[in-house]
Amino acid sequence: MANKLVVFYSRADENYVNGMIKTLEIGNTEIVAGMIQELTGADLFKIEQVKSYAKDYNECIAQAQADQQRDARPALKGYPETLDGYDVIYLGYPNYWSTMPMAVFTFLEHFQWEGKTIKPFCTHEGSGMGSSVRDIKSLCPDAKVEKGLAIRGGNVRQAKEEIENWI
Ligand SMILES: Cc1cc2nc3c(=O)[nH]c(=O)nc-3n(C[C@H](O)[C@H](O)[C@H](O)COP(=O)(O)O)c2cc1C
Repeated sequence: MANKLVVFYSRADENYVNGMIKTLEIGNTEIVAGMIQELTGADLFKIEQVKSYAKDYNECIAQAQADQQRDARPALKGYPETLDGYDVIYLGYPNYWSTMPMAVFTFLEHFQWEGKTIKPFCTHEGSGMGSSVRDIKSLCPDAKVEKGLAIRGGNVRQAKEEIENWI
């Protein structure tokens, strides 16, 4: 087991990129997560909801917004057995209305964070990290939360150098 872990949430399918609806084979955040994994040799874990959001963009927006408005904690398909061996957790997610998808809240509340360093990264369409770093700090008060990295969704494939510098 590596002592670093990349944990991420990402949704492929229909998305809005640079002003247009596009179908993504792999989600933007998943591409960044893969680059971090390659650069660091970290283990990789994808956060998946039991009931995933729709492939259709507008339907997904409605579902995700409803979850955020009622402060939901969507059930997850699974978790890493333990975080015990990991010192550094790279935590990735798309920006959903200035914060993380609610499934990431479910994930963070599942574990104890004492002694862990969280390095947050997000992909977005203009809102950057939003208030997500503040939200991570309040969900994981015992973790050391480092400076975040925000990458525009349409630029992820060109972002390797920026990612390397941030790592
Ligand atoms: C439900 C939903 C809400 C979103 N809200 C925002 C937002 O408030 N601000 C923003 O900059 N981008 C927003 N986006 C765009 C995503 O953050 C962006 O496309 C991201 O790269 C998607 O990552 P993924 O492909 O890994 O899921 C939203 C996308 C979705 C699907």
